Amino acid sequence: MARHDRDTWDLASSVGTTATLVAAGRAMASAMPDALIDDPFAAPLVRAVGVDFFTAMIDGTLDVEAASALSPDRAEAMVNGMAVRTKFFDDCLQAATDAGIRQVVILASGLDARAYRLAWPEGTVVYELDQPDVIAFKSATLADVGAEPTADRRAIAVDLRDEWPKVLCDNGFDPHARTAWLAEGLLIYLPPQAQDDLFDRITSLSAPGSAVATEYVPGIVDLDADKARAASAPLRQHGLDIDMPSLVYTGPRTPVPGYLRSSGWTVTMASRDELFSRYGRPPAAGDDAGDPLGDIIYVSAELSSVTPPATAR
Ligand SMILES: C[S@@+](CC[C@H](N)C(=O)[O-])C[C@H]1O[C@@H](n2cnc3c(N)ncnc32)[C@H](O)[C@@H]1O
Repeated sequence: MARHDRDTWDLASSVGTTATLVAAGRAMASAMPDALIDDPFAAPLVRAVGVDFFTAMIDGTLDVEAASALSPDRAEAMVNGMAVRTKFFDDCLQAATDAGIRQVVILASGLDARAYRLAWPEGTVVYELDQPDVIAFKSATLADVGAEPTADRRAIAVDLRDEWPKVLCDNGFDPHARTAWLAEGLLIYLPPQAQDDLFDRITSLSAPGSAVATEYVPGIVDLDADKARAASAPLRQHGLDIDMPSLVYTGPRTPVPGYLRSSGWTVTMASRDELFSRYGRPPAAGDDAGDPLGDIIYVSAELSSVTPPATAR
C-alpha cells in the first residue's frame, strides 16, 4: 500500500516490517561463529512478531540463499553488513558516554535493544521514539522475557514527521544537557522535508558538544523501483510481503553531511566498505549490483561549541 502523511504500522506491516527485518539480521549476525555483535534480544523479539519468514530465517529453517536469490557470499555479506552497522552505532554511543554524555535519544528505535544490552554508565537516560504499536510491542515483549533495561529507559510513542520535541521534553529531556542522538535505518522512510525537519529539531534541542549518528543512502534519490522490486520478487515467492520501493521516499533530498555542517556540526563519514575493513569482516563479495539501494554512508557528528549563523542551504 502506498505511503501517506498520516500512515501508521505495527511490526508486521508497512515500514514496521523493516524493523523486524533488521532485527532478524542482528539475530543472525549474533549467531555467527565469529560474531562481531551480541544482541540476545533480537531473536526473541523477531519470534514474538510472528512473521513466519523471519522466524524461519533466524531458526535456520529457511534457505536464505534460495529465498533471496543471493549467492552465499552475498547473503553472508548482508549479515555482515548488519553486524558492522550495529557495531558502528554501538561504538558511536560508547564514545558519547565515554565523553560524559548521559542523555541518549534513539529515534525510530524499532526492535533496537540497546537500552537493554549496552553497559550504560550510572545515570544515563535513554529515550526511545517510534510509532505507538512498535513502542508498545517491544516494551511488552521484553518485559515478558524478563529483560531489564540497563539505563533509565523512557519509551515515547510519536510520529517522527510530527512535532515530537515537546513530547520528548515533557518526558524529562533536558535541552541544556549534551545529548547523543541516533537515527539508524530511518531516513529513507521519511519524506525529504521531514528529514530536514528532523535534523533542524535535533539541532535546536542539542547543547554544544552533543553527538549525532546516522546513515544515508545516496542511491535513494534515483532508486530504480523496477530493479528493487525484481530483487525482492523471490522473497515474495517465499511468503514475505514486502515491497521496498513503496515504503521509501525517492527523488531529491538533502545530503545529510552538508546539511549537518551548515547547522554547525563537525561531520565524519565512513562507507560500508570502510566499516567492513575497520571491523575485520571480509570485503563484500562482488559489486553492489545485487543491492538496489547501493552504498550506505555512515555519519557521526559533533555539535561545535559555537554554532555558526544559519547559512543558505
Ligand atoms: C528499518 S527500521 C530501523 C529500526 C531501528 N532503528 C533498527 O535499526 O533496528 C525503521 C524504523 O523507523 C521507524 N519509523 C519510520 N518512520 C517513522 C515515523 N514517521 N515515526 C516514527 N517511527 C518511524 C519504524 O517504525 C521502524 O521502527
